[in-house]
Amino acid sequence: APAPAPQELRLGFDAVAKNRNDLVTVPAGYQVGILHALGDPMHWGDASWADNGSESADSYNRRIGDGHDGMHYFGLSESGTFQADRSDRGLLCVNHEYVVGPYALHPNGRTVVGNVRTVAAEVEKEIHAHGVSICEVKRGATGTAMSMVRGSRYNRRVTSATEMDIAGPAKGSALMLTKFSPTGAKTRGTNNNCANGYTPWGTYLTCEENFLNVIARAADDDARRSAKEVIALKRYGLPQNRRSPYLWDTAGSDDLFARWSSSVTAAGAAQDYRNVFNTFGWVVEIDPFNPDSTPVKRTALGRFNHEGAWPAPAVAGQPIVLYMGDDARNEYIYKFVSKAPWDPADVGRGLAAGAKYLDEGTLYVAKFGADGRGQWIELTHGKNGLDAANTVYPFADQADVVTHARLAGDVLGATKMDRPEWGAVNPRNGEAYMTLTNNNAGNRVAPTAASLSGRQARPDAANPRFYDDGEGNTGNPNGHIIRWREDGGSGAATAFTWDIYLFGAEEDAPAEVNLSGLTAVNDFSSPDGLSFDPRGLLWIETDDGAYTDVTNCMLLAAVPGQVGDGGAATAAGGTATLKGANATADTVRRFLVGPVECEITGIAITPDARTLFINVQHPGEDGSLAAPTSHWPDSQGNAASTRRPRSATVVITRTDGGAVGV
Ligand code: FEO
Ligand code: CA
Ligand code: CA
Ligand code: CA
Repeated sequence: APAPAPQELRLGFDAVAKNRNDLVTVPAGYQVGILHALGDPMHWGDASWADNGSESADSYNRRIGDGHDGMHYFGLSESGTFQADRSDRGLLCVNHEYVVGPYALHPNGRTVVGNVRTVAAEVEKEIHAHGVSICEVKRGATGTAMSMVRGSRYNRRVTSATEMDIAGPAKGSALMLTKFSPTGAKTRGTNNNCANGYTPWGTYLTCEENFLNVIARAADDDARRSAKEVIALKRYGLPQNRRSPYLWDTAGSDDLFARWSSSVTAAGAAQDYRNVFNTFGWVVEIDPFNPDSTPVKRTALGRFNHEGAWPAPAVAGQPIVLYMGDDARNEYIYKFVSKAPWDPADVGRGLAAGAKYLDEGTLYVAKFGADGRGQWIELTHGKNGLDAANTVYPFADQADVVTHARLAGDVLGATKMDRPEWGAVNPRNGEAYMTLTNNNAGNRVAPTAASLSGRQARPDAANPRFYDDGEGNTGNPNGHIIRWREDGGSGAATAFTWDIYLFGAEEDAPAEVNLSGLTAVNDFSSPDGLSFDPRGLLWIETDDGAYTDVTNCMLLAAVPGQVGDGGAATAAGGTATLKGANATADTVRRFLVGPVECEITGIAITPDARTLFINVQHPGEDGSLAAPTSHWPDSQGNAASTRRPRSATVVITRTDGGAVGV
């Protein structure tokens, strides 16, 4: 059936002005509630947040974690199963990406003496404050706002210590052997869970991004490794003699701490944690409807700084398709296509369905051509030069290919992107979008640069801007959003047509920078979170970047057109490309501005579009206990608040109970 014309969908709210208030600001006619924040108890028996960091490490197995990020809402039926169309009761899965500050979490900030974590209980608390929370949410007797159902049997924490299964090509590989699992079939913990995905069968996908935060490697470790291992460790950013920013491995000799050093010992691979680094960087599947289930690392989806995993709408008889970004400068965009065709009878089959669709399939990496066409290139051992004879890196088998997907992407000549963050697929026409949040001159260098070093790249058609914003930022400081249409409309296609939907810019930037013609009602920088709701409204969230001197981060709503509807434009310093034509006040409009020093991230919506959830991550991140810069979320209702700032989930509804955004 032809997609409904975009003009049938209209933005129906007054634009929120840029501001730096310590508040979530929404349009007139909307209201804000707080669903949960760092440290809130999910079960009965634990005390409420005391605002002094006194909560125990163990209690974080039952409390909301820190650093709220990606999330998803699943409708919950009366019999406890996935009910896709239910809006008044559901399960909300929320990522807890990292420990902010970490001055809210501990009594007096983090204790570090000479690069050693001397208070083991603080480290244990941080380990338990990472991961995912799953909680039941419910509307009250009236209205469309929602609250957490404390004590629900579905309420659960998954942390950096939770036991997980390894599945797919890397299961049992020598690359996965650890003292914890000498067969390489299991591991513990999911870490630095940034964005997310979900499956049509009703499971949550949580994605491991900045796992370098927690992994150390010993001095002289290179000499105990093969040349091949050293190449791989270097490409993934883990040199020898490296301290992790969190120093978890320094808190003691107990396994809980020692396992965070990915270092060779005399004991052997099955008796140490030399391979622990390889057990992170995956997409993890969780069945929220079965609180006793063991989460699974789905290795067929590749290992890199996974931002998220975004599904194309499932079609019976067609494969499951997931789009994924590697969020680091000059990294790649990937796609996974399942071997098994989608059978709607698998709805509700949980991790068994996950095994069917996510353990066997084909991983691809994207190459964007200057002519507006692109290719998906297969990451399969034995194809395209990915074999043991490769001179960049000798790939032993498919486990080696998925564990070192970045090296495979290098071999295949994939396009280096300006930090791929979130993706989203338009339910109206199947076109995929992805935010490229920003890049800097250390990586995306001037078009005239005489030579390149390391992994540097010049601007190209898909990453076309190189400019100085006059405020000390050079490269592509404001980011852009790319989109593509698969050939034949099939997610399994290996070629596509692409253009750039929208370029971030400040409203007063010169025209060759402000290519989409943004104005006061819709200008933004550093697009990060991105989501289509079921109606086809596109939500865009921002993270820091080069605009927080003017405004706190924000959420915009948009009615996008389609690939190819922009006019030709030439980016400053870059190459000719297509200009997103959708940035009028009618098609892109600011819906929300967050509190001080936060990132707006994570988005979920009920099927009836009457309850919108967003996450506020790291409010007041530049402050300290002695000099706080934010008191949000308490400041939302109390302008005189002196309480600690906390990451939290916000519930946004219309006062008249109507659908949001339109
Ligand atoms: Fe955790 Fe790519 O942001
Ligand atoms: Ca992000
Ligand atoms: Ca970001
Ligand atoms: Ca941030």
